[in-house]
Amino acid sequence: MADATSVLQVSPVIPVVTIDDPRHAVPVAKALADGGIRIIELTLRTDSALTSLALIANEVPDILVGAGTVLTAAQADAAVSAGAQFLVSPGVTASLLDHLLTLGLPVLPGVATVGEVMAVQERGLAAMKFFPAGPAGGPAYLAAIGAPIPQVRFCPTGGVSLASAPDYLKLPNVPCVGGSWLTPRSAVESDDWSQITALARQATELLGRPLG
Ligand code: 3PG
Repeated sequence: MADATSVLQVSPVIPVVTIDDPRHAVPVAKALADGGIRIIELTLRTDSALTSLALIANEVPDILVGAGTVLTAAQADAAVSAGAQFLVSPGVTASLLDHLLTLGLPVLPGVATVGEVMAVQERGLAAMKFFPAGPAGGPAYLAAIGAPIPQVRFCPTGGVSLASAPDYLKLPNVPCVGGSWLTPRSAVESDDWSQITALARQATELLGRPLG
């Protein structure tokens, strides 16, 4: 099933995680899980990202782990081989979407305009990443899209913070937000797992929604 609506219901926040050193992968995932987060979008922005993805998929069963920053069909295939449970792209082309829809996994295509929302919806998907959420128009933009297209669900990501997340989450078309603020690079590189757990817990508690 390619539609990712169920992926958006796992947690009110999807952490967008970038890991340089695969030795950090499992501790980061466990730290997030300890704080109540059950999902990670692991970006394919580092040379060792696929190694980190496979480690989390194999060793942290509490976490649903997906690959983020999927730009090409080859990256999508490699992520699936590494154990990705869903795929996220910052935007889509027709050919990338063609390929993603053959893989049998939930896919979360990035959109930033009404035309892109309509094009993805035409392919049978009702869940999308709104990226980059802040620069593209923020909560007001998503509220406006919800009038003509109320059935699509969005995960706004890009410039979202603990402070701005509630403004998105009160919208009926926003089940969750995404962001990198739960895993600051400084915390990851200093093995400060308790800081990540605290940020995860703070996010889940302050957003005022029960975890799925
Ligand atoms: C993404 O890929 O979704 C973004 O890089 C995350 O954006 P943020 O760092 O502003 O949360």
